[in-house]
Amino acid sequence: MKIGIDKMAFATTNEYIDLRELARVRGDEPDKYTIGIGQEQQAVVPPTQDIVTLGAAAADKMLTPEERDRISTVIVATESGIDNSKASAIYVKHLLGLNDFVRAVELKEACYSATAGIQFARGLVALNPQESVLVIAADIARYGLAVPGEVTQGAGAVAMLVSQNPRVITLEATSVSLTKDVMDFWRPLYATEAMVDGKYSTNVYIDFFKQTLERYQQLTGRGLEDMSAITFHLPFTKMGKKALEAVLGDRDDATAQRLRDALTASQIYSRRVGNLYTGSLYLGLMSYLQNGAAHAGDRVALFSYGSGAEAEFYTGILEPGFADNLSSVFTDLDARKQVTIDEYEQAFNQHLGMNADDVEFDISADQAKFVLAGQKNHQRIYKCK
Ligand code: HMG
Repeated sequence: MKIGIDKMAFATTNEYIDLRELARVRGDEPDKYTIGIGQEQQAVVPPTQDIVTLGAAAADKMLTPEERDRISTVIVATESGIDNSKASAIYVKHLLGLNDFVRAVELKEACYSATAGIQFARGLVALNPQESVLVIAADIARYGLAVPGEVTQGAGAVAMLVSQNPRVITLEATSVSLTKDVMDFWRPLYATEAMVDGKYSTNVYIDFFKQTLERYQQLTGRGLEDMSAITFHLPFTKMGKKALEAVLGDRDDATAQRLRDALTASQIYSRRVGNLYTGSLYLGLMSYLQNGAAHAGDRVALFSYGSGAEAEFYTGILEPGFADNLSSVFTDLDARKQVTIDEYEQAFNQHLGMNADDVEFDISADQAKFVLAGQKNHQRIYKCK
C-alpha cells in the first residue's frame, strides 16, 4: 500500500521584521545576518497568535469537508506547548470543527517531533487504510532579545494530511533514526526562551546528518546520485549548506550541482520566516517542491534534526500533481506587514508566556481567522473570526 503526505499547507503570522534593520539596531553587520546566517526576514508574533492559532490556520487552508470527516487522529508536534497537561491538538480539533470521534495528542522532541508524527501516522494508516491522520508542526522559536540566537527566531506551522494513495509524496520503507543524550539546546519548564550551545549544536547537527545518511546508504545501497534533492531541517538557511557541503566536499559533478540547486530552492521560504522548529524541514520541502526542479517520480530525501538530540533520514517518491496539493506560501509571505524593531520588541514582551493573570488582548488588529483573545481563570480563550 502507498502511504505518504497527501496535502500540505503553511501558515505564519501577519507581521515580520527586516533582519538588516535588526542588524543595524544590534550593532552587527547586515551581511552577517543575510549571508553569514542566511536569513532576510523574521516572523513577528503578536500576542494574539500561538501554536494553536497557527496550527489551526495551516490545517484550515487545505481541508475539504470530506477530508475533515476522514481524519481519525490529530497530532500536533511542537516544543512551544501552551499547557503541560492538555494537548494543543484538542484546541486545534475544536477550532477546525472536526468530528468528536477522533484522537488528539501532542508530541515533543525539539525540532524532530513532526517527523515522529509522520511515522506514527504512517503506522495508523497502514492499520486503517480508510482513515487519514492530520499532522501539524507548529512552533514559535524564541531565544530572547539581543542574544546570538535572536537572528534565528521565527514562527509558523505546516499542516500535513497523511493517507493512503497520497498526492504529494509516497514514503519509502527505509528510514534511519538516531538518538543520543546531547545538551545542545533545551528549555527548562521555568523558561520561555530556549537555552542553547550554538556552535556545538551546529556540529552535532552535521554529525547526525553524516551518520544517518551513511547508515541509509548502507541499508539501501543507494547513493547521493539516487536522490533528486535532500531537504533539511533549516534552523537558519546556512545550516543546510553547512551540512550538505560536509558530505559533498569539493565535488562539482552533476549530482553535487543538482543537490546544491535543490538546497537553494528549499531555502527560499525559511529565509523569509525564520526557524519554525519542528515545521522547518517541511517548509523546506514545500519550498523545494514549489521553486525547485522537482518532477513526479523523483526521490526526495528528508533530514530531520531535533536538538537533545534526535535525527531521522528518510526518502519519498513524488506523486504526479504534487504541486496542486500545496498551499501558496508566497501569497502569505507577500501579504505580511513589516514592523519596526521597536514594535517587534513590544510584541516579543507581550507574549502570554508564564503570566498567570487574566488578560484580554485587542484582537481587532489581527486579521487572522483564529486568534488568542486572552486568558481567564488560567484558561486560554480562542476565537474564530
Ligand atoms: P554567532 O556567534 O552570532 O555567529 O552565532 P558567528 O559569529 O558564528 O557568525 C555566523 C556566521 O556569519 C559565520 O559563518 C561567520 O563567519 C559569518 P560560518 O563560519 O558559520 O560559516 N559572518 C559573516 N558573513 C558575512 N559578512 C559578515 C559576517 N560576519 C560574520 N560581515 C549561531 C550563530 C547560529 C550559533 C547562533 O545564531 C545560534 O546560537 N542560533 C541558535 C542555535 C541553532 O540554530 N543551531 C542550529 C543547529 S541545532 C538545530 O537545528 C535545532 C534547533 O532548531 C532547535 C530544536 O531542535 O528545537 C536550533
